[in-house]
Amino acid sequence: MNHHGLRGKVVVVAAGAKNLGGRISRTFGAAGASIAVHYNSPASRRDADETVRAVEHAGGKAFAMQGDLTQVAATEALFQETASRFGGVDIAINCAGKVLKKPIIETTEAEFDAMFAVNTRAAFFFIREAARCMHDGGKIISVGTSLLAAFTGLYSVYAGSKSPLEHFTRAAAKELGPRGISVNTVAPGPLDTPFFYPVESPEAVAYHQSASMNGKLGDIQDIVPVVQFLATEGWWITGQTIFANGGYTTR
Ligand SMILES: NC(=O)c1ccc[n+]([C@@H]2O[C@H](COP(=O)([O-])OP(=O)(O)OC[C@H]3O[C@@H](n4cnc5c(N)ncnc54)[C@H](OP(=O)(O)O)[C@@H]3O)[C@@H](O)[C@H]2O)c1
Repeated sequence: MNHHGLRGKVVVVAAGAKNLGGRISRTFGAAGASIAVHYNSPASRRDADETVRAVEHAGGKAFAMQGDLTQVAATEALFQETASRFGGVDIAINCAGKVLKKPIIETTEAEFDAMFAVNTRAAFFFIREAARCMHDGGKIISVGTSLLAAFTGLYSVYAGSKSPLEHFTRAAAKELGPRGISVNTVAPGPLDTPFFYPVESPEAVAYHQSASMNGKLGDIQDIVPVVQFLATEGWWITGQTIFANGGYTTR
């Protein structure tokens, strides 16, 4: 089982500075992995630095790196920098995402393009670069959304731009399987992070809370073990989109 443990592994966490990605970086770092903590906005720099310090405090190694991953060159640079600092990549986790909640008739071309640039395009090239740089036996995990299993309006472009992850995941799992690389997507339900609230009304927040089995939004602490399992002893799971959402949606 040590073969699939985290000690000594090199992990790239896209959007790994804060919230879900930040918790993944800290948890994996505390388990003995070396972490590339990616962040995008200048405002996330402080979170990235704090996450690096937390990993180091726990005895691990980490560095922070900025990149707008809608630019493929930034994704390439993230993997190259990680490989040159830590001697390769074993696990790649993509938490980057952008949300929009709007009726279709009000959605602009610019909004559509911005959503697909992050949720689809960047997600595809993250998988490609991970596959190119990763050691055999590696793990690739993307973060999707449980809205893929919801029959609802208003999230057409958000859920629509996350939905290709499901097939990218299947195709990559099939192509990379011979190298022992597993590829999966974890699809959370609504999470209690600053990502969720700006697009939701108080009534919608109450609805989302009521749709889970404990009447609360998801907690990032309940998603991290799912990601960790897929990256370790759960290596036999591949090509899957796993809904972790307290009963919010199912299919
Ligand atoms: N919170 C929820 O309710 C929920 C539910 C289901 C799924 N998810 C998914 O879970 C993931 C993590 O969300 P979270 O709740 O932890 O919130 P979050 O920290 O705001 O996650 C979104 C991340 O995407 C990054 N990002 C945005 N544009 C980017 C770009 N062009 N290049 C690279 N990175 C970019 C953001 O970085 P900057 O802030 O530095 O720009 C941010 O770190 C997302 O993929 C989200 O779709 C969230």
